Amino acid sequence: PYVSMATTQKMVDDDDFKVKESVIRKMTRLAIHHNAVNLSQGFPNEGPPSEGVCEVICGLLGGTDEDKNELKDKKVSDLMGSLIDPSQHRNATLYDLLSAINERGRLNEISQYSVPFGRPALREKIASYYERFYPGTKGATRQRVDPDRNITVTLGATESLVIILRTICKPGDSILIMEPFHELYPSQAAVLYLKPEFTEMKENITTNKWELDFTDIEAKAKICKAMILCNPHNPTGKLFDTEELQQLCHICLKHNMYLITDDIYEHMIYSGATQEKHILPGWDTESVLTSAAGFSDDEVQKMANLYIIMNSLSKTWSCTGWRLGWVICPSHLTENLRAVHDQMVLQAPTPIQVGAQALLDIPKEYYLKMTSKYQERRDFLVQELEKLGFECTQPNSAYYAFMRFRNVPALKGFSKPIDASIFLLKEIGVATVPGDNFYYNGHNTDYIRFCFCRQMPQLQEAVKRLQKLQEYNAETALKQK
Ligand SMILES: Cc1ncc(COP(=O)(O)O)c(C=O)c1O
Repeated sequence: PYVSMATTQKMVDDDDFKVKESVIRKMTRLAIHHNAVNLSQGFPNEGPPSEGVCEVICGLLGGTDEDKNELKDKKVSDLMGSLIDPSQHRNATLYDLLSAINERGRLNEISQYSVPFGRPALREKIASYYERFYPGTKGATRQRVDPDRNITVTLGATESLVIILRTICKPGDSILIMEPFHELYPSQAAVLYLKPEFTEMKENITTNKWELDFTDIEAKAKICKAMILCNPHNPTGKLFDTEELQQLCHICLKHNMYLITDDIYEHMIYSGATQEKHILPGWDTESVLTSAAGFSDDEVQKMANLYIIMNSLSKTWSCTGWRLGWVICPSHLTENLRAVHDQMVLQAPTPIQVGAQALLDIPKEYYLKMTSKYQERRDFLVQELEKLGFECTQPNSAYYAFMRFRNVPALKGFSKPIDASIFLLKEIGVATVPGDNFYYNGHNTDYIRFCFCRQMPQLQEAVKRLQKLQEYNAETALKQK
């Protein structure tokens, strides 16, 4: 109904709309194959907090919220006593105990379909989480994220983005993506036959800042339906400041462009960087959409209708494989968004939703500890990489170091980052992501991305291996290719 048959065929045949395999995940596969320390894909090698894990297990075994809660508080000795033949107690394994609990034949809801757009209790927890972390200061205009009108639970930020784009765009529409970008954004544009427009963020080595080109953004906003903003930013570790957010909002308002924020690294903000507040109108309007910055009350309301959040458990709670996230969108989009979600994936797994409820309740100390842990790892890895000749603008958020590698003697000769990355993988034993993967058609070839979310022993091992780089120069390294 939107584009002609001829145009559709052209789009199907067009290379730009070809959906390609993820390079990030390919590097992980290669890391396993070559036994390399994997600093490519962004997932930690430690598990999520027990609060969530126990909730999932007790949910699966209990079957209902009531039985889950009862199980959690039971003494192991009492459970053993009532479910396992006393003569077997000495040799009973955890499996014996769990299967005995599982075989009680009670009601079971938690392993079954639940409300497609998210368990009501989970959506309530998500709303409370936003209230806890982003308590708007402007009492009168503050509006709570509404579990029924604004929140949809998804299979991670990955699904969140695809359903957002499917809801607000039609084939052939353009969306604005900042380079360097996460590959997810242009890939999903291709899945949905959307045209990506790119605006390049440039690293200013003098000011030590990744800078936006607002003139370019404004020009492209005229033809784009939405812009995706990853804040904190992967791969650069940039945290956008209030002024930048204000400028982006002014452009969105002027050109009626949706602003989709990818917030999955929201808590990983390191000392030296100030935490910029969310700009969800009604929440923290005082910090971003201020009258001093030229926003009228009408504009604040209008921005509320253009602002969409994608988020997930993956990074904050170290459970990238749980596949659970959410969308917060203005209420006029919710019905369509939920329909797309329902028809595409039906729902996020019910037991994982139960675990998510508990994770969202964890006290603030958890976030502080996580942040200082990653900050320590960042300081270690970046310093060690710099000793080898890598350079970067200090990442002050998220968990990646996007390093310039042209001054590393061993890597100088590689014209393409993928060749440098493959050399690091096969010869040195460290997996990274070639930086051109974050640019359209790989047009910037100066970077390699390292993640620093692995535990210290893996980072130390990676550094030990990387020190072997000093045994090579540009010629000897190229010969190993
Ligand atoms: C910026 C960004 N957005 C989205 C994702 C995917 O997140 P999820 O696991 O929630 O699908 C990632 C994963 O690395 C990411 O870095």
